[in-house]
Amino acid sequence: MPETRIITGIDIGTTRIRALIAESDEKGQPVFLGYGVVPALGLRRGVVVNMEKTVQSISKAVEDAELMAGVHISSAVAGIAGDHIKSINSQGVIAVSRSDNEILESDIHKAIEAASAVAIPTDREIIHVLPQQYTIDEQTGIKNPIGMTGVRLEVEVHIVTAAVTSAKNIYRSLERCEIAVDHLVLQSLASAYAGINSEEQEMGIALIDIGGDLTDVAVFFDGSIRHSGVVPLGGKNVTNDVTIGLRTAVEQAERLKLMYGSSLTSLVDPDEMMEVNGVTGRAPRSISRNVLASIIEPRMEEILSLAAREIKKANAPAALAAGAILTGGGVLLPGTVELAEQILDMPARLGIPLGIEGLPQNIVTPEYATVIGLVGYGFKHGTGHEISRDGIRGLFKRIENWFSGNF
Ligand SMILES: Nc1ncnc2c1ncn2[C@@H]1O[C@H](COP(=O)(O)OP(=O)(O)OP(=O)(O)O)[C@@H](O)[C@H]1O
Ligand SMILES: [Mg+2]
Repeated sequence: MPETRIITGIDIGTTRIRALIAESDEKGQPVFLGYGVVPALGLRRGVVVNMEKTVQSISKAVEDAELMAGVHISSAVAGIAGDHIKSINSQGVIAVSRSDNEILESDIHKAIEAASAVAIPTDREIIHVLPQQYTIDEQTGIKNPIGMTGVRLEVEVHIVTAAVTSAKNIYRSLERCEIAVDHLVLQSLASAYAGINSEEQEMGIALIDIGGDLTDVAVFFDGSIRHSGVVPLGGKNVTNDVTIGLRTAVEQAERLKLMYGSSLTSLVDPDEMMEVNGVTGRAPRSISRNVLASIIEPRMEEILSLAAREIKKANAPAALAAGAILTGGGVLLPGTVELAEQILDMPARLGIPLGIEGLPQNIVTPEYATVIGLVGYGFKHGTGHEISRDGIRGLFKRIENWFSGNF
């Protein structure tokens, strides 16, 4: 019987911290055990600004999840995001080692290491090296070269780097909660993991995760990730606009947005009214829902237009046939899918996370895509392995090698 494994995902978002615990069933499939969600204190734009508050929030989310799951956890797969994240594409070439020219896994590792040997500033660290495709001699577009023969092996990779301080603060916050980090995973990659299948990756698809402070974008085509980027705007900017536009308090603006908001004015009946409390003792006013939508729509348009610009940076050779998948709490505003289709000029749908059995219905929503994807990632990749990066930065780094087609 396969060993039972417990995997925990911790999504340290800018508005919420979510922890999710799952175990493997007798077939090795992930099954839900428990979750915890708490407001995120101590973070700004995906970066820890107050360690004490961050640690308290993480501890609370984990404790709630542990209580529901009835287990105690000691390690987790953690997400990383922020406008400090950068990504580049790179290539590496090696001569195949065996005299009969058969390509071994060790050749692939060497090729990936060669591709990773790019100049990275000392204040940044590599968090992912994701193989896109291999070329053996003249034959291009190979997904898995193990067992094939050739003299020269080339690999194209997508490298994601993060500011060393930001990554360290995540490690430190979790260490303070006595939780070891199994993997540090780019949040958009985790969200994609929960909602995109390999066929869609082959056809071409963009993931847009609209969170609180940030919108993460990742583009996939020809079976692998081609571009990842961050737009430094999210649902909190929408709420701030409502605060200013309706001259009300932030809490009230957030409540009105959740209850009556829409990303498209055309979806809202101008005669439908809502009550807005006045600030500092002023009398409540009655305002049309249409006014609220007309404040929200331009900001959502801006966020999606900037996301479209990120998608263009991927230089896809053809239209992304599988369209766009939308995750994160910010996409829950009615009309967001329709607005996204207009702005991106491609089909769009909400990303409903999959891959874990027994999830409570209330968390099978786009807001939970990242944490569900983190758990899925943990099951697929086990614990991380170490690759020497001596020649590059004189440090040991954990590099996640995602073999194409493994997604
Ligand atoms: N039902 C809803 N309708 C509209 N907006 C919503 C809804 N639920 C949540 N949001 C918005 O989603 C945003 C939070 O999204 P999410 O929980 O995905 O963020 P996060 O993961 O904490 O942040 P980030 O990914 O930026 O680090 C908030 O701005 C919130 O107002
Ligand atoms: Mg998020």
